Amino acid sequence: MQIDRRNFIRNSSLAAGSIGFSGQSFGLSKKSVAAQLDLSDWQSVRNEFLLDPSVVHMTGLLLASNPTPVRNAIEAFRNGLDRNPVEFFASQFAAKERACYESAGQYLETLPEQISLTDSTTMGLGLLYNGLKLLPGQEILTSTHEHYSSKTSLKTKADTSGAVIRQIELYSDSSAVSSSDIVRNIMSAVTEKTRVLALTWVHSGTGVKIPVKDIGEAVAKINSARTEETRILFCVDGVHGFGIEALSIEQLGCDFFVAGCHKWLFGPRGTGFIWGRKESWKWVTPLIPSFNMQFYPTQGSLMTPGGFQSFELRWALPEAFKFHLAIGKERIQNRIHSLNTQLKTGLSSLSGVKLLTPLSAELSSGITCFEIPGMAPKDVIAGLRAKRIIGSTTPYDVTYARLTPGLLNNEVEIEEAVTAVAELCNKVR
Ligand SMILES: Cc1ncc(COP(=O)(O)O)c(C=O)c1O
Repeated sequence: MQIDRRNFIRNSSLAAGSIGFSGQSFGLSKKSVAAQLDLSDWQSVRNEFLLDPSVVHMTGLLLASNPTPVRNAIEAFRNGLDRNPVEFFASQFAAKERACYESAGQYLETLPEQISLTDSTTMGLGLLYNGLKLLPGQEILTSTHEHYSSKTSLKTKADTSGAVIRQIELYSDSSAVSSSDIVRNIMSAVTEKTRVLALTWVHSGTGVKIPVKDIGEAVAKINSARTEETRILFCVDGVHGFGIEALSIEQLGCDFFVAGCHKWLFGPRGTGFIWGRKESWKWVTPLIPSFNMQFYPTQGSLMTPGGFQSFELRWALPEAFKFHLAIGKERIQNRIHSLNTQLKTGLSSLSGVKLLTPLSAELSSGITCFEIPGMAPKDVIAGLRAKRIIGSTTPYDVTYARLTPGLLNNEVEIEEAVTAVAELCNKVR
């Protein structure tokens, strides 16, 4: 019998339920733990993490620590898989994959079938940009502020398809940027050949948050005069807005949104997603065969790469969404903005510091970039580490020092970071 992608899972002996085990027979509890936690103050939130208290962690934009419910779920799934890999997998696959789509849909305020599950932002960007269906002559418009993962995915697309990529600078001075300038710069670069607009919501090289909604509205105006085959597909690397900004994804005005869940969301390492507008998914070809076509008969599901996965990690993802929802999206947004504002205000009061990230919450989020003129960024970060503060340098052509206050920091730690930077400045004088 010929096995095509539609009946692969259905006919497989691994199809969910075909072996007849229920989750409970493997000792799994059906209840979410996150909903039962006391997360009413920030110390209680912090208590759910195993973070080393001897250092100040300000690198949450890279890789998350996981809270108790996520760690417990990973452990339970790992034990099940280790005890009886195939029967445990078969008993859990359908329900746990669905739970991933549903919890993501609930958090993003969208339908589960519009979501594709991935391992990271990088995987999502690679699949999306390389899978885009472009007609001859159509162009991709992007910015000079994109992360390596976007740039490389777009370059591969150009190399393999012949598509032309045009890169523009959205601002020259990140600290003096304005929303209207950014929108104007993008719109004046759009031509009738522009089919894809590929941008990043919050730039990890400067901390600038671009006005995605305003850009989406401007794109929609242009699209109202275009045909289905020529309208601009607005694609966003949203990883550093997701898990901070209280977003409702349908309202952002983009066609595709890509993020990793192992950063601000505190999700299991190796988790991420692509969200697509219903009518936009048809413009992407799935590059990796999916095992998930049984869940939703949509391109979103088909874009979830198949192959057996690190299921103990992926299936713990719903606990991360629930944990964030149990704290509250608005509360999270306000807290992260408030801590970053405190840091930026403190840094900008130091005469030896140049703050690169805008002070305004409208133009920034959880990333604060700065430099101490006369000291290399790597030496700034090494100097802070010697004072127990963990930061990072930005991996871009021009490098800065970067601190990313998040939910696991507090006002005292921010003060400590400002004092530590002030002491480094004194060394330069
Ligand atoms: C803007 C941006 N996009 C993508 C990535 C890659 O993220 P991931 O680790 O989820 O692939 C990063 C890395 O932190 C980033 O800063």
